[in-house]
Amino acid sequence: MKKINVITIDGPSASGKGALARGIANKFDFNILDSGVLYRLYAYLSKMSFSPDEIANQIEGYVEFKKNKEKLLVSYKTTDITSQLRSEIIAKSASEHSSKKEVREALFNIQRNFYDGGGLVADGRDMGTVVFKDAKLKIFLTASPEERAKRRFIELQNLGQEVNMPALIADIEQRDKKDSSRKLSPLLPAEDAHIIDSSNMKLDEVFSLAEKLINKEFK
Ligand code: C5P
Repeated sequence: MKKINVITIDGPSASGKGALARGIANKFDFNILDSGVLYRLYAYLSKMSFSPDEIANQIEGYVEFKKNKEKLLVSYKTTDITSQLRSEIIAKSASEHSSKKEVREALFNIQRNFYDGGGLVADGRDMGTVVFKDAKLKIFLTASPEERAKRRFIELQNLGQEVNMPALIADIEQRDKKDSSRKLSPLLPAEDAHIIDSSNMKLDEVFSLAEKLINKEFK
């Protein structure tokens, strides 16, 4: 298989995939695809009674992504919806929609189209196993559920959202179980993925490890 200039980062929710992807995109000047945001957008737009294909068209026609150092900003028809998309209600709904074949199919080409021949870092659940099987470097980033709940707690607090820690841990565990046990594109490391358990690692330690892998694969 011909390998393309893509780094995939898959893993469970709040494992630090987004932060690592942004760090890589900034340092190596790669484009970025946060595929979870597409599933969150799907959940957001499905409330407006669009069909799966119409949702794909809405995303392609009216959604804009802008990255700054800390986060990816998302707007729909010029309204910033970043913080709405980050809510746990949308996350839950995204997880429910994501097990449906028609939803995964509607989003497949949009994800593939993020690759324009230049460098791309793509994070999600099935980037290395389905969408970019031909990626040059695959990382599977994980951490314990408690550690991930702590990280999500801080993220949601920074967005000014109210959070209850026990409910958050329960939500995260339930979503992981659903994502790992579904038939289509379950959350699994690709056979050729490098697995990083970041439970006891700081972001800069994870980043240095990833940097070594990138320098080796993208020489
Ligand atoms: O990563 P994030 O928490 O934003 O993803 C939201 C939901 O979207 C996940 O719980 C998962 O069900 C779904 N998803 C997916 N495949 C991806 C990315 C996200 O099924 N590649």
